[in-house]
Amino acid sequence: MNRRHFLTTTGAALVLPLILPGCATGTGRRPRPSNRINLGIVGWGMQGPHNTRSFLAEKDCQVIAACDLNQVNLQKAVDTINQHYDNKDCAAYHDYREMMAREDLDAVMLAVPDHWHELVATEAARRGLDIYGEKPLAKTIAEQQSIVRAVQKNKIIWQTGSWQRSQAQFRKAAEIVRSGLIGKVTRVEVGLPSGHKDFAHTAPELIAKLAELPGKIDDLSKVVPGTPEWDLAVTAPPAELDYNTWIGPSQMEPYIRQRVFMNWRWNYNTGGGQLLDWVGHHVDIAHWGLGFDHSGPSEIEGHGEFPAPNALWNTCTRYRIELKYPQDITMIIAGGHDDIQGGTKWIGTDGWVLVNRSEVDKANPGGFDASNPAWKKGKSLPEALRTTKLYKSPGHWRNFLDCVKSRQPTLAPVETAHHSAIPGHLGLISLLTGRKIRWDTASEMILDDTEASRLMTREYRAPWRTV
Ligand SMILES: NC(=O)c1ccc[n+]([C@@H]2O[C@H](COP(=O)([O-])OP(=O)(O)OC[C@H]3O[C@@H](n4cnc5c(N)ncnc54)[C@H](O)[C@@H]3O)[C@@H](O)[C@H]2O)c1
Repeated sequence: MNRRHFLTTTGAALVLPLILPGCATGTGRRPRPSNRINLGIVGWGMQGPHNTRSFLAEKDCQVIAACDLNQVNLQKAVDTINQHYDNKDCAAYHDYREMMAREDLDAVMLAVPDHWHELVATEAARRGLDIYGEKPLAKTIAEQQSIVRAVQKNKIIWQTGSWQRSQAQFRKAAEIVRSGLIGKVTRVEVGLPSGHKDFAHTAPELIAKLAELPGKIDDLSKVVPGTPEWDLAVTAPPAELDYNTWIGPSQMEPYIRQRVFMNWRWNYNTGGGQLLDWVGHHVDIAHWGLGFDHSGPSEIEGHGEFPAPNALWNTCTRYRIELKYPQDITMIIAGGHDDIQGGTKWIGTDGWVLVNRSEVDKANPGGFDASNPAWKKGKSLPEALRTTKLYKSPGHWRNFLDCVKSRQPTLAPVETAHHSAIPGHLGLISLLTGRKIRWDTASEMILDDTEASRLMTREYRAPWRTV
């Protein structure tokens, strides 16, 4: 029985330390090696370092391997991890499959762009590795279904990177709604960002070059193929990046720096725009408050503004989607509409509550506001009002490690991530087709619309295919 099989099948490594192999001696400062969860990480971009640092801070977790297709990022990952442990033990991998074949790995942290989620996650699940995986669950509904199946079949522990659930103000807001304090919920408003955000700060250099051309284009969503602007944007990939593999299962496109690192979100070949980037956070919280972690909308109708489909940044810039939910609840998901505040707002017959990351009410720090001033005080509701107590995690990354050991469900299991992202996928399908979508949550099918149903999936570029 190898180490991973032991942890997975007994779930008892910590409560039964005496039956662990005698060779498992520790340093004294940290738990014995056999009590540690050996973690491999995939993706060292914007979110990978944040997740990894959170795991490095946990003494019963040992990050033993790192993988990235970009040599510079990979080296940064390895250096950061080795510096933390003051050794040279972290192994570097270019191919996630090679890293996941290691017998001494227990779990993986996955922070690759959305177009890679399904292949990387199903490979890890197939190998019996527990997974801390990022939101949105995947690039399409079909890819999400594939991940859910793989996680369930292999009985692995999954935690989604929807860390807002581990924060006090989001839990308090959801408990207010679940405890019935705002009465019967009639409407939920979810305000998300609009436009495109140059996370990688790579747009200005290209815009400066474009300014020298007669068109003087200063917006990357106006750059299209067959123009001098496009020709200027296309370059050879840098030596440190394996661009062919980076594009992976998506359609091959010329390399454009402004839509690879971090900014892949603004190109539907690799990402899903602001809507899919945020749905796994604020709609996830909306569902938590409604008790709809395994539920979904039945009708979805959206209207949005798009750049040209072949533009350099082509994702929807402004959108408004109306969704019909069970119990006569209407949800609005909007980006770029001033009447919908950022964050999640539940409105009921007896009041309302709004929660966001940023401060929305100066008198009540923590991104929280509500119709009843009494609810604003403190990190948690008064005990007498908390008739529904939701899952409380000790921290999102800590919760994952605890569940790897206990084999109990995490705060954000894979099925929850799946349902949290579905309204975003269906919303985008409605925006793209320009019509109302009808959805059957039980069968997970779009009803009576062949064209829309086709958008639940996409073709992988050879040789990539689902395992
Ligand atoms: N939970 C959150 O708050 C949060 C915040 C930001 C991003 N994310 C999510 O994290 C994921 C990554 O986003 P990001 O902004 O960090 O992207 P990024 O582009 O900044 O970084 C991705 C890294 O993965 C590497 N990579 C790509 N494909 C790979 C593969 N097949 N094998 C190995 N390495 C590969 C890239 O070279 C890059 O270094 C996305 O799903 C995103 O939605 C979550």
